[in-house]
Amino acid sequence: MSDMLSAFADPIRGTSSDFENSVALITGANQGIGLQISKDLAAKGFTVLVGSRNFARGEAAAKTITGDARAIQLDVTDQTSIDAAAERIAREFGRLDVLINNAAISQTSWQPGMSVADYMRTAKPSKIDLTEMRAVWETNVFGVVALTQAVLPLLRQTPGARIVNVSSGLGSLQMAAEPANPHRTLYSPGYAASKTALNAITLAFAIELEPEGIKVNAVTPGFTKTNLNAYEGTETVEEGAAEAVRVALLGPDGPTGQFTATPGTVPW
Ligand code: NAI
Repeated sequence: MSDMLSAFADPIRGTSSDFENSVALITGANQGIGLQISKDLAAKGFTVLVGSRNFARGEAAAKTITGDARAIQLDVTDQTSIDAAAERIAREFGRLDVLINNAAISQTSWQPGMSVADYMRTAKPSKIDLTEMRAVWETNVFGVVALTQAVLPLLRQTPGARIVNVSSGLGSLQMAAEPANPHRTLYSPGYAASKTALNAITLAFAIELEPEGIKVNAVTPGFTKTNLNAYEGTETVEEGAAEAVRVALLGPDGPTGQFTATPGTVPW
């Protein structure tokens, strides 16, 4: 019976002692899903580096975490900030076990009182401001590539390293192409397409790093109540963080190059 159970067990590394000396970097972790991922990984025994554009906000967030949590200044659109963060991690820890690319923006032009629906009317392909689109892609796409490249030497020298990219179901081309999908009108060149690009980049890194045993996966948290959607989401941050945490803990037999949510696989 126990053999049968182990055959179906999740290929996930388990107890907090497994992660005692492990280091995780989470971007955009001063609030929302990133902060919850940090709390969950700290509870598993990780030393958690709470990435925050504003160091003071990162410090305040780190104080709310039980376990070893330390703020790190990190703006993923600023190469100087990225390089300084990578250098600090190398100097202080000499390793990086988990990178969670969580930071993202949905827009730059939200006006007070706007709903998601109001904003989406301004972000249609025919109307979206290119400066806005570039800013969203700079954070959600190029920022992920820049940071991943900068910390890759550390991930490479840490056995069993993992990269988790926090994507969105809105980025699924297959779901957007489905006429019966009522949310397909939210598919825009800004946020949604930036997450499609992030998915592509996830796969590209997964393919390159597979021979080295570094797993690279994309997850979607589901519609979570956070600042990103003016707190219109329906899930809690605990629910939103769960899949990123699960995938960060995948053991050697776990998959790479997947796009998943708590209920399972998400179509690309
Ligand atoms: P949030 O707005 O609370 O958190 C985003 C974080 O990213 C903030 O801490 C923000 O300061 C940070 N950030 C923004 N630009 C940055 C930059 N240039 N450098 C470093 N950090 C930066 O939103 P939420 O919901 O917690 O978002 C977390 C992730 O979850 C994002 O990748 C988002 O796209 C994704 N997501 C969220 C959903 C939701 O319903 N809330 C649904 C699907 C995906």
